[in-house]
Amino acid sequence: MTIRPLIAGNWKMNGTAASLAEVEALHSMLESPQCDILLCPPATLLSRMVSVSGSIMIGGQDCHSASSGAHTGDVSAQMIADAGGEAVIIGHSERRSDYGEQDTLIAAKATAAISAGLLAIICVGETEAERDDGQAETVVLNQLAASVPEHASADTAVIAYEPVWAIGTGRTPTPEDITAMHRTIREALMQRFGTQGAQMRILYGGSMKPSNAAEILAIENVNGGLVGGASLKASDFSAIIAAA
Ligand code: PGA
Repeated sequence: MTIRPLIAGNWKMNGTAASLAEVEALHSMLESPQCDILLCPPATLLSRMVSVSGSIMIGGQDCHSASSGAHTGDVSAQMIADAGGEAVIIGHSERRSDYGEQDTLIAAKATAAISAGLLAIICVGETEAERDDGQAETVVLNQLAASVPEHASADTAVIAYEPVWAIGTGRTPTPEDITAMHRTIREALMQRFGTQGAQMRILYGGSMKPSNAAEILAIENVNGGLVGGASLKASDFSAIIAAA
């Protein structure tokens, strides 16, 4: 069975009203794309982006595990859905490192996202020190086991493998390393979720750009990408979408 790829853009803490023109430009460049497309802007732009995005899905970059309450500065999964969002990134390595988010919290956030009807994009990935230490697969498998909730399915969850040392650095793992890690993730998902695990999308993230997207996206068990820097410009992001 073929898995429809997902190309997701993570704008991180970038973008103001002026950037909406990039989304309109992107929309006009797309000609019957062969993949699902998602953009995750900062929360301030979410609803405005929904109004100009056409067939491009819009999502959040994080959500709280509760649906509402006394949590200053946070946004809930329900609020993202209410604003027109259809997905949310959970457990990005920048959340793990900036805010010390741990797998248990990430699993709770993913559960909240799925309950609100959002597609949960759950991020895993090793640091450079962990890879140098030969621990990359162990770290990723542990994160996967503890941060993906029990009831996740291919329709409600997506895994994003993002080696921390490849994010925003211009460096990427070798195709052999990506092949091996995605196979490991696939096997773990199938063992735990059966057919759902066989169909769950596994995205690669970390310095994906127009020049390397085709090679990475052709790798077995790479079902799309989570793109940071290169998602900010319509021309770059549309080139990656074309490669899928
Ligand atoms: P990058 O970021 O494409 O800029 O490396 C990827 C991400 O953090 O999702």
